[in-house]
Amino acid sequence: MSEFQKYFPQIQYLRKKNRSYLDNAATTLKPLCVIEILNQFYREKTANVHRGDHYLSDELTLMYENTRSQIQHWIQAKNTEEIIFTKSTTEGINFLSFALEDFFQENDEILLTEMEHHSNILPWQALAKRKKLKLQFLPVDKNGELVISEWNKVINKKTKLFAFTYYSNALGTRNPIEELIPLAKAENILTVIDAAQAMTAEQINVQKTDCDFLVFSGHKLFAPTGVGVLYSKKTHFEKLKPWQLGGGMVTDVSLSGYERAEPPQCFEAGTPPVEGVLALGSVLDFLNKQNFFETTKSKTLLSYAEEELKKISGLEIIGTSPTKKNILSFILKSSHCRDLGQLISQAGVAIRSGHHCCLPLMKKLNLSSGTVRASFAAYNDEKDVEFLISAVKKAKEILL
Ligand SMILES: Cc1ncc(COP(=O)(O)O)c(C=O)c1O
Repeated sequence: MSEFQKYFPQIQYLRKKNRSYLDNAATTLKPLCVIEILNQFYREKTANVHRGDHYLSDELTLMYENTRSQIQHWIQAKNTEEIIFTKSTTEGINFLSFALEDFFQENDEILLTEMEHHSNILPWQALAKRKKLKLQFLPVDKNGELVISEWNKVINKKTKLFAFTYYSNALGTRNPIEELIPLAKAENILTVIDAAQAMTAEQINVQKTDCDFLVFSGHKLFAPTGVGVLYSKKTHFEKLKPWQLGGGMVTDVSLSGYERAEPPQCFEAGTPPVEGVLALGSVLDFLNKQNFFETTKSKTLLSYAEEELKKISGLEIIGTSPTKKNILSFILKSSHCRDLGQLISQAGVAIRSGHHCCLPLMKKLNLSSGTVRASFAAYNDEKDVEFLISAVKKAKEILL
């Protein structure tokens, strides 16, 4: 067992049971620091933040705000105020689709891509309906890569925002943000990065990237569910209206109105996911100590798994971009992905099968039952690949 694996009790538990967890794109396992901080929160330190006049609330508020600055440093944001806590990636995108409502005028256009997760389509569809906007989509080719040469066909003077995923959750493709963002900037188009799958794939630097907004979920970065982050450039604060109203986001309230607090408080109405934020902070500490991006080896694991899967006749890898990371999608010819997925799971390997909340992409690639997706994290090793290959072979014997 590697040093890194030792921090994840579930890995030890799974090993004892001869099982494997390869559904990290859905959510990651949690390290000891998360278990310990949540334990401490519930046993000794439950309180609300920004509200109490007591020692515990003060202490937790300090920890909560400290996580904000940890995230600022983690993604290299310029200011702490640019970090807004949300519930998840989904909430971050919904937030933007409401908060930016007044920024759009009738007939304006929003550009998405054909490989988006439903979370990065539905909120924009709803906004388009409310404000009479048009959605355009940058196409995907059969390898699962964006056809950037079509850029000029999908934008025009009315395009105001481009929201796209950094890494495809269905195929693992890394989209070239260093090419896409300058294209958008040149046309004055705001950029929203869905970084849900990107946080464990590479160290993001929002200043270098120069994106306008970026969203991610803590639970895909070893933190608990229920906490997420929205990064917004400070210069865009005046474009954003608070999308939720309530306690904690005001400086004054009368019976006829309110005065909003300064960002980020005005964007965090109600009680935030306090323990989730604290746990996210503990994860960042942990990853820093582990020198996470230096030691991660999921790229080699992915190649190993891909090579082994390719040896199985009838098996087809879906998504062949060389930029792919962490995610391996495949199908077994003439069998339904759910059947294949279920048999792999019965063999003790947790994977996901189906459309991965990317129905438009599955339709575009003519994958009527979707794909089977194995997704890797830094605590997976060769043994997980061996489990997977053996499970696929057993499943194939039954199915074909
Ligand atoms: C690319 C991408 N975007 C958005 C989401 C939604 O994330 P969440 O369910 O944490 O809000 C996911 C989740 O799998 C994802 O992979």
